[in-house]
Amino acid sequence: MEENKKYYITTPIYYPSGDFHIGTCYCTLMADALARYKRLRGYDVFFMTGTDEHGQKIEEKAKAKGVTPKEYVDEIVAKAKDLWEVLKISYDKYMRTTDDYHVESVQRICQKLYDQGDIYKGSYKGLYCTPCESFWTETQLVDGKCPDCGREVKEVEEESYFFRLSKYQDRLLKYYEEHPEFLEPEKRKNEMINNFFNKGLDDLCISRTTIDWGIRIPFDTKHTVYVWLDALTNYITALGYTTDNDELMKKFWPADLHLVGKEIFRFHSIIWPAILMALDLPLPKKVFGHGWLVINGNKISKSFGNYKDPRVYINATSVDAVRYYLMKEIAFGEDGNFSENLFVEKTNADLSNDLGNLVSRVTAMVEKYNNGIIVKNDNLPVEDIDEDLISVAKSVVENVEKYMDDLKTNEAITEIWKLVSKANKYIDLSTPWVLAKQENKDRLNQVLYNLVECIRIIAIPLQICFVDTPEKIFNQIGVSKDETTWDSAKEFGVLKDGTKVTKGELLFPRVEMTEELFKVEEEKEEVVEEERKGIITIDELDKVELKVGQIKTVEKVAKAKKLYKLQVDVGEKELRTIVSGLVPYYTEEELSGKQVVVVTNLKPAKLCGIESNGMLLAAGDYDVVKLLVLDNNNGTLENGANIH
Ligand code: MSP
Repeated sequence: MEENKKYYITTPIYYPSGDFHIGTCYCTLMADALARYKRLRGYDVFFMTGTDEHGQKIEEKAKAKGVTPKEYVDEIVAKAKDLWEVLKISYDKYMRTTDDYHVESVQRICQKLYDQGDIYKGSYKGLYCTPCESFWTETQLVDGKCPDCGREVKEVEEESYFFRLSKYQDRLLKYYEEHPEFLEPEKRKNEMINNFFNKGLDDLCISRTTIDWGIRIPFDTKHTVYVWLDALTNYITALGYTTDNDELMKKFWPADLHLVGKEIFRFHSIIWPAILMALDLPLPKKVFGHGWLVINGNKISKSFGNYKDPRVYINATSVDAVRYYLMKEIAFGEDGNFSENLFVEKTNADLSNDLGNLVSRVTAMVEKYNNGIIVKNDNLPVEDIDEDLISVAKSVVENVEKYMDDLKTNEAITEIWKLVSKANKYIDLSTPWVLAKQENKDRLNQVLYNLVECIRIIAIPLQICFVDTPEKIFNQIGVSKDETTWDSAKEFGVLKDGTKVTKGELLFPRVEMTEELFKVEEEKEEVVEEERKGIITIDELDKVELKVGQIKTVEKVAKAKKLYKLQVDVGEKELRTIVSGLVPYYTEEELSGKQVVVVTNLKPAKLCGIESNGMLLAAGDYDVVKLLVLDNNNGTLENGANIH
């Protein structure tokens, strides 16, 4: 491997939202195709993906599920990794922002930027929604109200740390000008410059005091790092930046390509390079902002509810069919429509008919006419139709290289299909069945050789996009390793005399578009329907065990602002430990001795390292929270009494 042939490619790190759809797979799949391409060309590739695991939303979701944020993200990360396995994503590292090396490195980065004056303390003014604990800008509001919950917002001011982004404005513009290849596509770069530089860059708020689930600012630990300084730095912390173990950093930084969706392009083209400039590190060679997968013009997303688990499509067809559609049907950089009908149409036309039939017809003919044996004879005259075929075959891989290097990935695949169609045409023009009837053995073998050689040349660059099919083709046409190298696809005539061809199973069985094909399992849909309406059956209600409990001791949890550790008597031999977020609403004295309603069969959860065994019922919403307390005017119930 040549020393300089290195390639570091990244996807964004995903929010662990719990629902990965074909849209979220798109970027990772494209990055995977590029990584595979570079590996085929002999590059030492480092391909990284991962998850962006801090923030208030995660904290809330975890709370709603009764688990710790870490437990919550662990579960989703496991699901994400499963999906990447199904899609055969060949990542070299899965980075998590909750990993220790990242947390520590972000803290060192903060400290450095603070020490050199690039981070300063200020105050953040914004429109705040108290129930959602979120800041919004004027333009994000819907009818002047919180876009998430529709409630009133109020203007508040909060102490925050800021990164001096404005200081880097001129250097950034100069860099864009001197490195026209840095940001692509061009139109996104221009849009970004017009929208953000014309009115001047503001400094960037990088901390919050209201979010617990985040990396602590080392010089002021009541603050946690807010979003981008935590997320973007993943690209270097994962390589060991700021640690002694930084061989990867030395080897792979600067990154060759950050692949990102269009809505986060600006963060990668303004904030990220400015942070790198402040750290005195070289900038990535390219940031590419791809478009979205849309359905009828709407981004596929959880909020639109227009998504399905990608396995629905994979199970109905194959991983390769899904990969093909995404890579071939969408012009990289533009939005692309994901249509189930078109997906089936393309799978049948391009994969079953064009490619699948080519391979099955040719292998069947070699078996039928020559017992599966390839004959190579360079002494025969070459006809016009042969020359025509050979010239297309010889140009395929060079054209694929040109398009892949330009990130015109869909055109690269189109190039391969030019040879697929040419070879299919060649069968019709050379009519091997007539040659067989005429017993024109030499010409018949020559034609079959040309066809199998084309299939070899097709299957090599197919490895960029397909993960199962190339191997199946190589097995069917009996080629050895040295006949499948990238450079060997630039030559025609590599296939050896005497190669044994064996017809295999159909590569892409036809798919029939029916209502059932992509249906999400009936049972699941019903559950979702019921959940949405919020209706449960009496049997489900019975599952919740409610008991009278008496709070015996109350103690504040040292590491948490809102939590009490309670010892509650629910009529069992031992007191139950229950951790509850009541600090803002009740004093220790107010709670002590109260008889309350306790959910006693809730799965235990760890909160700030303390195992909580149950939950107290309370009413209210953020500002006002009231415990459900027993009215003991006319005598008391025993602790542990059932509540129906
Ligand atoms: N966590 C941030 C990224 C931080 S990178 C330092 C984030 N995460 S995300 O989960 O919301 O999005 C991850 C990627 O998925 C983004 O690049 C986004 O554009 C992409 N997509 C999400 N839905 C998509 C489509 N429907 N189509 C194509 N890509 C989509 O942003």
